[in-house]
Amino acid sequence: MVVTLNPKESNHATYQTLDELVTALSEEERTTYSNIFHSIKIPNSTFEPCSSWSNSRYTRNCLAENEKFELILLCWEEGQKTPIHDHGGEECWVKVIEGELRETHYKYNEDGELKTGKTAVSKTDDISYMIDFMGFHSLENISDGRAMSLHLYAKPIRNCKIFDDKSGQFVRKDMNYCTVAK
Ligand code: SIN
Repeated sequence: MVVTLNPKESNHATYQTLDELVTALSEEERTTYSNIFHSIKIPNSTFEPCSSWSNSRYTRNCLAENEKFELILLCWEEGQKTPIHDHGGEECWVKVIEGELRETHYKYNEDGELKTGKTAVSKTDDISYMIDFMGFHSLENISDGRAMSLHLYAKPIRNCKIFDDKSGQFVRKDMNYCTVAK
């Protein structure tokens, strides 16, 4: 594995290419994924060839996927958002590559009503974390223009619960990709 040492923190590896990142995630244990994800120093230009855009919904672009993890680039037109969803029992890290995302948390109260919880805004380079015991969330691009975010799921999320506004219920849906990197 090729890693680059940050001169300011001599024993601290940084990941400067997608290949380095994918190799590290493939070789290391899940317990190190947070450290690895916080050590990404990949230039934004790396992600542009992997991007795709749609006016109808944010796009999910698979950069790497195996039995341990899934690395996805989400591309957001202005104002696009996810439905409220869980993470299929998996861990989720999100790094904003470009733009600004608002995350809103949701939880059921004791009366079985789904209530809005805290909200947080993530700007370029910010990293957030989500797992099902924290509840459900939605993400929205609140930038003046496009946004891109890098999502690491461990293990991959094959399906998850998505809130259906019409029925007011969560329904389990399979996840899919808009593009897959070769
Ligand atoms: C998605 O993967 O489509 C939703 C984004 C997220 O919760 O990380």
